[in-house]
Amino acid sequence: MSLPLHSVTPIEWGLRAMADPIALLNDHAFLEKKAANNALELLTRWPTDWVPGWVETMTAVARDEAAHLAQVMRILLRRGGRLERMHKNPYANELRLLVRKGGNGEIVDRLLISALIEARSCERFQVLSAAAGQLDDSELAAFYSRLYASELGHFTTFLRLANKLSRSTATRWEEMLASEAKILAAQSPGPRIHSS
Ligand SMILES: [Fe+2]
Ligand SMILES: [Fe+2]
Repeated sequence: MSLPLHSVTPIEWGLRAMADPIALLNDHAFLEKKAANNALELLTRWPTDWVPGWVETMTAVARDEAAHLAQVMRILLRRGGRLERMHKNPYANELRLLVRKGGNGEIVDRLLISALIEARSCERFQVLSAAAGQLDDSELAAFYSRLYASELGHFTTFLRLANKLSRSTATRWEEMLASEAKILAAQSPGPRIHSS
């Protein structure tokens, strides 16, 4: 399945990010934690029109993300790292600013942003898996490849839910894809999943 993203991450980015795997894993752990929180938050943000399976979907995503967090932490700790106390995520914060406030539009936008973040994570995990392979880090190559498949499932789930709640997401989705590519390109470089 090809992702609809408006920019393509080159393998060079992956090789640069893999230069400091501990920092990368630390950043990654926070993203999984945030993804679990986001699903639990959406769980109690009822859409205006009831969507069958809403609770089951959000609890399933939260459970997946908590499992990913545990897996990242296991690798991070085994490699001698530890979870830092603080974490900044300007990429996600800027994406969140695109959300319209109030009504059905807000929940639709939140689902679209969630789909966007999942799609980009997917893309980056694919690149990181290839980079880790080139660097003979078979553990991370296999790990990122497994995560790619899981986040791809989340991407399609969030997008499907947004399309269920609104019949006219196409224009909004295209605007968001364009904004996402710009926001990502404006990030600082470094060993982070959403660096430039
Ligand atoms: Fe995840
Ligand atoms: Fe996910």
